Amino acid sequence: MIKIAPSILSANFSKLAEEIIDVENGGADYIHIDVMDGHFVPNITIGPLIVEAVRPITSLPLDVHLMIENPDQYIPAFAKAGADYISVHVEACPHLHRTIQLIKSFGVKAGVVLNPATSLQSILHIIDDIDLVLLMTVNPGFGGQAFIKSVLPKIQEISGLVKERNLSIEIEVDGGVNEETAKLCISAGANVLVAGSAVYNQTDRKKAISLIRGCSK
Ligand code: DX5
Ligand code: ZN
Repeated sequence: MIKIAPSILSANFSKLAEEIIDVENGGADYIHIDVMDGHFVPNITIGPLIVEAVRPITSLPLDVHLMIENPDQYIPAFAKAGADYISVHVEACPHLHRTIQLIKSFGVKAGVVLNPATSLQSILHIIDDIDLVLLMTVNPGFGGQAFIKSVLPKIQEISGLVKERNLSIEIEVDGGVNEETAKLCISAGANVLVAGSAVYNQTDRKKAISLIRGCSK
């Protein structure tokens, strides 16, 4: 079962509630929220206040992607704001095991994110502790970038590992996912697809979500 997580980064923020309801009605499985701090990535976006405001708007799980330095400092605020998943970048976590335990201490599902240039080696020792692995298929910072195909073998590699060890970890991909690149991600073994511009730049969000999921309409 393929899940679609529209990223609100490409939504119209002046009518955010409508934009979220629209994708929920269109069949979205998660709402992906991109948090950027202007340090870890060269852009500034959303804080816990917006997550808190979004929480009562939808019954879908909130998938919070932290692209920030020192995430430990902000995890409690995002958990209290209503995040269902909090994912942190391995590149920003010198004490990754501790950070994962901190996320889980709030009853929130823990995800770990790898940039395109980061190898799976960096998470092998904590793989039993996490609920989700997010593989970036663009360098994080902005919506609307081109999919980096060289990440595909890494998706296959984690998918093989998850099967081999019979783990119940979700494999999510993020960046440049559209109808075409979604097919590549699904065949490589991804089961959660984040899509920002490919959903929000279309007027018919239901159709866009179905096409990315691999349905014909
Ligand atoms: C990139 C963000 C993505 C982004 C995806 O830094 O993490 O979630 O919003 O946008 P698209 O699907 O347009 O590449
Ligand atoms: Zn993201």
